[in-house]
Amino acid sequence: MGQDVEGQIYLHGAHVAHYQRRGEKPLIFMSGKSIFAADKAIRGGVPICFPWFGAKKDDAKAPAHGFARLKQWGVESAKKTDDGGVQIVLSLESDDSTRGLWPGDFLARYTVTFAKQLRLRLEVQNTGSGPIVFEEALHTYLSVGDIREVQVEGLSGVDYIDKVQGGRRLLQGAEPVAFVGETDRVYLNTQSTCVAHDPVGERSISVSKSGSNTTVVWNPWIAKAKAMADFGDDEWPGMLCIETCNVADFAVTLGAGASHMMEAVIA
Ligand code: BG6
Repeated sequence: MGQDVEGQIYLHGAHVAHYQRRGEKPLIFMSGKSIFAADKAIRGGVPICFPWFGAKKDDAKAPAHGFARLKQWGVESAKKTDDGGVQIVLSLESDDSTRGLWPGDFLARYTVTFAKQLRLRLEVQNTGSGPIVFEEALHTYLSVGDIREVQVEGLSGVDYIDKVQGGRRLLQGAEPVAFVGETDRVYLNTQSTCVAHDPVGERSISVSKSGSNTTVVWNPWIAKAKAMADFGDDEWPGMLCIETCNVADFAVTLGAGASHMMEAVIA
């Protein structure tokens, strides 16, 4: 890749697994216990959740977070950028296997730019003859020094669904988000940039976005980390997911032929 930046993306799931600027620490967390197999999602990096988020409501056996992170994506193009980076475009289309899980017809195009910033743009086009409704998330695992010291700004005064409290709806106060236990929240109707201040890692990471009306904040903490086969028991302090998404009340409805674009910029 260019001289100033390193990156890695798998065709499996169109999964970004590494991004690092020269002279800096990696920005993206990858689990040392990730399983690399055709029927498994990579643990860490940036899984793409589509066309549903979490468990599929009407089918408990369907894969969590949709099928996009389990599919082999195709390469459309790869080119250098003017600022010494690389831009890669991958795509995924509906086929008989996706229609067996979800009826929509679509073309998803994912443009990843590894440059001075990491830019992730997911465009979904409805290629069928009727409307489609989907959820989507760029499930970004950020690498942090110690989650217990991290504070996230940008979500003050935003309503959220607290999945740790059985889906209760709560309101974030004026204070930044801090982490004292398992955290799994869907912040609703927010288009704001989030900034994670990480004093132990000695940096702040910003996640700005467009075309996205929800933000998920997740850390599994101790017990859930132990329960995940593909995640190290001691890895939870070193990661934080800030997910650019359209989920829950903010699922996307697209008429025939229409497209929707969602972008996250991590810096
Ligand atoms: C988060 C969800 O986005 O992803 C959590 O809000 C979930 O509930 C987490 O546990 C990880 O999901 P998975 O399927 O990759 O283990």
